[in-house]
Amino acid sequence: MSTNIDQPGIPDVSLLQELANDFFKAVPGTAPSIGAVGQPSPLSYDPLASQGNVADLKSPPTSLPDPHFAGAKTPVSVGGAGVSPSAINSVNAIDLKNQEGNFTSPGFAGTGKAPQSVAGRGISPSAHQQGNEVDMDNPQTALPDPHFAGAGKAPQSVAGSGSSPSVQYAEQYEQLPFTAEQDLLPDIKNILAGIPSFASAPQIPYSFANAGDSSYYFLKENNTSLTGRSAATVLPGSDSKSIDLSKPPFDVNLVKKDFPILQERVNGRPLIWLDNAATTQKPKPVIDRISYFYEHENSNIHRAAHELAARATDAYEGAREKVRHFLNAASVNEIIFVRGTTEAINLVAKSYGEQFLSAGDEIIVSHLEHHANIVPWQQLAQKKGVKLRVIPVDDDGQILLDEYQKLLNPRTKLVSFTQVSNALGTVTPAKQIIDLAHGAGAKVLLDGAQSVSHLRVDLQYLNPDFFVFSGHKIFGPTGIGVVYGKEDLLNSMQPWQGGGNMIKDVTFEHTQFHDAPGRFEAGTGNIADAVGLGAALDYVTKLGIDNIHQYEHYLLLYATKLMKEVPGLRLIGTAPGKASVLSFTLQGYSNDEVGKALNTEGIAVRTGHHCAQPILRRFGVESTVRPSLAFYNTCGDVDTLVSVLHRLKRK
Ligand code: ALA
Repeated sequence: MSTNIDQPGIPDVSLLQELANDFFKAVPGTAPSIGAVGQPSPLSYDPLASQGNVADLKSPPTSLPDPHFAGAKTPVSVGGAGVSPSAINSVNAIDLKNQEGNFTSPGFAGTGKAPQSVAGRGISPSAHQQGNEVDMDNPQTALPDPHFAGAGKAPQSVAGSGSSPSVQYAEQYEQLPFTAEQDLLPDIKNILAGIPSFASAPQIPYSFANAGDSSYYFLKENNTSLTGRSAATVLPGSDSKSIDLSKPPFDVNLVKKDFPILQERVNGRPLIWLDNAATTQKPKPVIDRISYFYEHENSNIHRAAHELAARATDAYEGAREKVRHFLNAASVNEIIFVRGTTEAINLVAKSYGEQFLSAGDEIIVSHLEHHANIVPWQQLAQKKGVKLRVIPVDDDGQILLDEYQKLLNPRTKLVSFTQVSNALGTVTPAKQIIDLAHGAGAKVLLDGAQSVSHLRVDLQYLNPDFFVFSGHKIFGPTGIGVVYGKEDLLNSMQPWQGGGNMIKDVTFEHTQFHDAPGRFEAGTGNIADAVGLGAALDYVTKLGIDNIHQYEHYLLLYATKLMKEVPGLRLIGTAPGKASVLSFTLQGYSNDEVGKALNTEGIAVRTGHHCAQPILRRFGVESTVRPSLAFYNTCGDVDTLVSVLHRLKRK
């Protein structure tokens, strides 16, 4: 063992660190690297000054143990030595005996089996005949992944450590968890001893999360200590009834491994995706499900007696059932597939609006709305002589309910508003707004584009007349979205597009339309991406939307705390209990400059007006920088973001 020549008997930590870093460079994938001795405090840590991917040991969330390699003994603290616990843990955890991959994917050649069921509510005829056992309803669950063996023993991470990231941060920033006296040599030896055998081990291709067991993602601790709350709790901003805290939260590092693009490097740095309000990244099960569709099921739907038509129809209608279930709608007939939220709102404006609204009627929207929930109503207003009225917000970006009530009157025919603001993150009191609208005799459209991926949406509880969202904002593909509408209402509405698929009978004199949803799905739809959306909802369901809500809530608190400490940073949108979005401006810099500086460090955020100019102008700005969180973001991502902002301010 090398020793420091100045202090005989003391290990040469720098050399060990160098060796260990060499090791991590040799490891395929994204194994953590070894930080320098005596890291500065989280807020002064500057990733720009560091060489490579250095963990911040005094901000433990950046050095989360890597559950990909779970199963290891819990590492001893290696504080003072610059070795992150996760790094040690990762190496110790590798199960070399388990490196021979039994990699099987339903979509990959060699499995020799077509899926048993590709529908949410049944088994495709051919698959049934084939007696196939793979569960394509939830394809990722059917696959053993030896790489993830022992994941149940995942070490603690922020997500499952029993305290919120912000609490951990507060505690550990004050009192560092590591002490110089602790002996790191056994762990370093383990690292070095592991190098040759690891280097010669075969690489395992990506596989789905392990077979059929959603507990894979969850940590074992009973998390009642997580918040000190009782098991059923309502989180701030949630319109859902309660959050069940009895289930352990998922492990964010394990989850992150499911998203191949999150292994990308941008400008030489690991990608940090904080542009989730614009679009979300896709987990491997979604990507593979779409590939599987094109490899084994592709056909038009509802139109033929052949085998593939049956498979494709089964898959598409199965996805509809998954959407229904995810939103707790009463019937699959209430779920219409469209291109996305924008098309969804246009459908309602063109079908419902043009048919049922007339001159003198009023539509209410909120000041928070995305352009997609303003422009179609303006167009309708101009065409029909309808008046558009706007609910104001306070200086935090919260809906002023009193002012809303003053706007309601017998002329109000429709209230159309967002559940979560894409520009500010405000969570609106949807249930109250809907109930008040119904009390005034108005119909309601609830825009869920920014809410469905962050909080539970229970349509039978919230009771809107229409609900819309986009697949790509909930880890599904682009080009697919949903209009939910109450069945009777949909069947009373004229279709906005005519063509094939939506008719029962056509003569030159007359056409008879299908009932919903068919009457609103003219032509060949986006079949494969509807199926991909179904897989995305399976994925979210497996993690648990309440777990996601809880985790993101703490992550947002953590980020808010750190960002508020950046000199000259102005947060735009400070509503309590808001979701995901952290819009800001930074004194002395244009938003574009901040966005570019972040991009240099591999951090993706949106800068601009976010297609919500009215609400930004309400706060006196034309644009902001907008980091937006998803469940695969970590406190480490936030630390890196904040470090860049501090550095900009120091310049
Ligand atoms: N509506 C998306 C956003 O907020 C594009 O960025």
